Amino acid sequence: MSMKLPFFKTKKTKVEEENELDNIPKHVAIIMDGNGRWAKKRGLPRLAGHKEGMEVVQKIVKTAVNCHVDILTLYAFSTENWRRPKSEVDYLLGLPKEFLHIYLPELIENNVKIETIGNMDVLPGHTKKAVRYAKEKTEDNDGLLLNFALNYGSRFEIIQAIRRLVTDIDSSKLTLDNLDEHIFSEYLYTTGLSDPDLLIRTSGEQRLSNFLLWQLAYTEFWFTDVLWPDFSDETFKKALYDYQQRKRRYGGV
Ligand code: FPP
Repeated sequence: MSMKLPFFKTKKTKVEEENELDNIPKHVAIIMDGNGRWAKKRGLPRLAGHKEGMEVVQKIVKTAVNCHVDILTLYAFSTENWRRPKSEVDYLLGLPKEFLHIYLPELIENNVKIETIGNMDVLPGHTKKAVRYAKEKTEDNDGLLLNFALNYGSRFEIIQAIRRLVTDIDSSKLTLDNLDEHIFSEYLYTTGLSDPDLLIRTSGEQRLSNFLLWQLAYTEFWFTDVLWPDFSDETFKKALYDYQQRKRRYGGV
């Protein structure tokens, strides 16, 4: 599905050749953690870590395109991140606009489609505007789906799904007897998307932090101590390679 265009063409490494063989995860979700620690280690302000983290996003997008991943979902801002100092919140919520300002032309050129999950309503106007523009500009693209989780929280997502579902039952659009896992998942932000096959979390933390709780039911997890700003093309390919070696049984034998 993802098309390779000249910009992304690089000489293939052995791992990349192997990755292309088969069993590449269709949907990869990433909890990009460790920006603050990366900055602290260098005596830099936390915001410098987030800025470096943004640059890594573009590198990883290129790898995802090259490795034929279909969907890349990135946890960019959680509903809990509002608890950070205002200056950091403002900076984090400015990053989508900055990222798209720099990279949208390359993303368009390479057939990447931008989407988001999360509650966009309460985000700053400039963030919403930049994201809306990018979505419009890329809506017909059918290469990599780059899906930013912005003001995303899984419990909130599930609660709002239940609210809408009950409304639909009240208005007889849906009956309780018809409700099953498939129908429920259509009320989530991720409606229409396959569940992640692989979840990556960086920086040594091994928890979900309210990310895609429903959607990760059968996902393979991959953790690394590498801090997000140090996450490289090679580390990503190692995660993809390790995924290829896993046997998924979905509760069967
Ligand atoms: C967690 O690290 C990271 C975040 C809360 C933000 C992640 C955002 C980016 C990587 C940039 C996003 C880019 C775009 C294009 C939207 P942390 O700050 O909690 O790190 P720490 O645990 O070391 O303090």
